[in-house]
Amino acid sequence: MSMNKKIALEKLKKEMEESIDLPLYSSANLVFGEGSEDAEILFIGEAPGRREDELRRPFVGQSGKLLDKMLAKINLPRERVYITNIVKRRPPENRDPLPEEIEAYTPYLQRQIDIIKPVMIATLGRFSMNYFLPQAKISNDHGKATRINSYILVPLYHPAAALRSGKMFKELEKNFLELPQLLKDAKNA
Ligand code: URA
Repeated sequence: MSMNKKIALEKLKKEMEESIDLPLYSSANLVFGEGSEDAEILFIGEAPGRREDELRRPFVGQSGKLLDKMLAKINLPRERVYITNIVKRRPPENRDPLPEEIEAYTPYLQRQIDIIKPVMIATLGRFSMNYFLPQAKISNDHGKATRINSYILVPLYHPAAALRSGKMFKELEKNFLELPQLLKDAKNA
């Protein structure tokens, strides 16, 4: 099972690398995502930054350090979850992803979800949250679990926001500490 998932993810990655019509193709590297293909929790951020583009790995800069710290608080090593982004190439100067970039990249995200079949999807920031819940507001809806198809969705603040604001840091930490129980509930449902 797990081997099949690994192969399916590799194939999807290769297909993305060869899709020359994808936006940002010529200006940035593909940051496909990484982690366990059997992960129960899939984290979805916004788009790679400079460090991520250089290393072709998601969340390896300042935001990534905070994400690792939050994962450590719930005793989850990074290797046991899966981490990716809604837009898988770095927008120039780290600007917000454009609607057409999100539109072009989300079919691949959807296929990644279908392969991994997580129990929980935790979105980091508003762009990935609004893909699943177009009406949601991050200030109001962070930490609230919603069932969507076969998984539960939990919007979280983006770690970069938590690095800028003590209040958001506290909220992100609180919501992270609630994830294990939400995961347990989702598995028992
Ligand atoms: N911010 C994101 O949204 N994604 C990354 O991979 C890194 C920083």
